[in-house]
Amino acid sequence: MHVALSAIKIGSEAVSAPVALAPMAGITDRPFRRIAARFGAPYVVSEMVASREMLCDRSLSAIRLDVAQDTALAGVQLAGCEAHWMAEAARRVEGNGARVIDINMGCPAKKVTTGYSGSALMRAPDKALSLIEATVEAVSVPVTLKMRLGWDDETLTAVEIARRAEAAGIQMLVIHGRTRAQLYRGKADWAAVRAVVDAVDIPVLVNGDIIDVAAAGEALAQSGATGVMVGRATQGAPWVVGQIAAALSGADVPEAPTGGALRDVVVEHYEGLLECYGSAIGSRAARKHIGWWLAKRPDGEALRGRVIRSEDTAYVLRELSAYDWPDVVVGDDQVAA
Ligand SMILES: Cc1cc2nc3c(=O)[nH]c(=O)nc-3n(C[C@H](O)[C@H](O)[C@H](O)COP(=O)(O)O)c2cc1C
Repeated sequence: MHVALSAIKIGSEAVSAPVALAPMAGITDRPFRRIAARFGAPYVVSEMVASREMLCDRSLSAIRLDVAQDTALAGVQLAGCEAHWMAEAARRVEGNGARVIDINMGCPAKKVTTGYSGSALMRAPDKALSLIEATVEAVSVPVTLKMRLGWDDETLTAVEIARRAEAAGIQMLVIHGRTRAQLYRGKADWAAVRAVVDAVDIPVLVNGDIIDVAAAGEALAQSGATGVMVGRATQGAPWVVGQIAAALSGADVPEAPTGGALRDVVVEHYEGLLECYGSAIGSRAARKHIGWWLAKRPDGEALRGRVIRSEDTAYVLRELSAYDWPDVVVGDDQVAA
């Protein structure tokens, strides 16, 4: 199947191809976004920031909001359950230089949904709209919305919310093809996203279970969406967004790094995390990434065991540098055997 993507606009912001790195709390921070952008991700989104907490000036929120150094266009994602706090947070984020603000209505986590934020808003469309309107009215930068198909199979509200969100001034939608009740189970229903695509005139990105170029093409064909957003497939492989964007726009596809080039990316990522958070928090933030970097690599499990809990950052760096990073792409080889 042949899908040719072209540039889009998110409000006033031009994006070379509608292929985006999904917001992932604890993952898509500044160091990760920087690497994804270098491999050609046209659009990236920050981790979710809780609007109310942010205004209490928690230092981690400040790091999550900082998109000033991003090289790709970066959206800042806000979550919240009160219009007042969403508007205040949006103003603050715009003041800090954000060029796009995204509203989270997809997060299924209990600590988020119990306060009627994240995906809980999918079963309260009027409430959802009050947050959307307050956010859009508070700022002049484009505001986008990320949501699921609905709360559960009986409450499929994505089309209603999409229509009303467009009327309220939302400039782009991202639809994860699952309900809240599904959490991450089953398979994302790309075809179900078509009803939203048909209901609005703004760009719609389809999301969920897109792992490579072939899946992206299939998701686009089934949904009719403008583009795709990719999350978990980038864990340990931040180049995947750039590869999909290039392949579907007819450009040269950047190769997944192997050998010494892969080592350089891993070291850059580790050092970036230390620089971003300081060594105590940074070395802990690196643990899951180290797990992904070393997954399915020869003797990767042994190295992981040696470094994963270490806070001796010089030791970890030495070990990661000394490791013989394989010259094959994971998946193209049998090293997992
Ligand atoms: C660890 C993790 C953290 C996530 N954090 C967020 C978040 O902060 N905001 C959000 O809108 N979605 C978040 N998501 C959902 C993803 O953006 C995406 O919608 C979902 O993973 C489905 O896409 P995928 O199959 O490509 O991963 C998160 C997902 C994961 C796995």
